Amino acid sequence: MAPEPPVGPAALPPLRSHLYAPGNSERLLGRVMGAGADAVVLDLEDAVPPGEKERARGLVAEAVAARAGEEGPLVFVRINHLSTGLARGEVAAVVGPGLAGIRLPKTEGADEVREVAAWVAEAERERGLPEGSVALIPIIESAKGAWRAEEIAASDARVLALAYGAADFVRDLDLRPGASGAESLYARSRLVLASRVSGVRAPIDSVHTRLDDEEGLRREAGQARALGYFGKSAIHPRQLPAIHEAFTPTEEEIVHARAVVRAQEEAERAGSGATTTEAAGGGGREFVDVAVVRRAEQTLALAARLGVGQGGGADEHHG
Ligand code: GLV
Ligand code: MG
Repeated sequence: MAPEPPVGPAALPPLRSHLYAPGNSERLLGRVMGAGADAVVLDLEDAVPPGEKERARGLVAEAVAARAGEEGPLVFVRINHLSTGLARGEVAAVVGPGLAGIRLPKTEGADEVREVAAWVAEAERERGLPEGSVALIPIIESAKGAWRAEEIAASDARVLALAYGAADFVRDLDLRPGASGAESLYARSRLVLASRVSGVRAPIDSVHTRLDDEEGLRREAGQARALGYFGKSAIHPRQLPAIHEAFTPTEEEIVHARAVVRAQEEAERAGSGATTTEAAGGGGREFVDVAVVRRAEQTLALAARLGVGQGGGADEHHG
């Protein structure tokens, strides 16, 4: 029997950008879908004032339903925290064939995730969706959340990835953010380890709130990538190119990865385990062993999934 196609987290493509739109704005809910993001996050939480929560729920539910079967970005909804009493109704309103997943703000424990997961399961059954098709992304934005990142990541099979929320994190700990990002380095790295240990995807970086600071955005996205994050949240379409660039293998990385794999194949034919190749970016020879080859294969697999680096090139002809 052919295996069932994967549903839920396993079925989703790599998501470099997650573009927010406030759930109470018809105009932005309409525009966000065509902005070119890999994923959109329709917000019912902090971008929506208390008096607008109900109207936003209706607008977001409509926007999600309209996406069923459509091409374009994957649709996530950020619901309100359980403690508001709004979350259950929001889950019931938005789960449907147009929804890829739900973001859970200010998550501080595994129980919160499991409670929402149970509501999601109920809504999936009611709508006739395959069980497990709606993913969850807990947002870690407090000391408690960061401390318990591992149990949160491991809490439920629906968890796709953790997301880091800088604005609330900085507030919770009264940090003084600077250009280096050093103030949150430990917490952000903790999310990377917790995710890996728990078998969920690499965490998603926070939004860069300074809209006109392209240089800062690039630095932050590059740092996130270096730390082991994959993907970054955004609040404006103009932030997407820098974010996509940060999480897409460069031509140079792809060419180098191919050279590594080729060097390894040649070494194997010659009966040796390790070899050397030209280092990326020039600068002499580089040692190549199994770990380096695995890494190169990861780069090539990501490039293939993103559809980049497929073009011909002098070194395309082997194999
Ligand atoms: C996101 O919610 C943040 O607080 O940065
Ligand atoms: Mg927040």
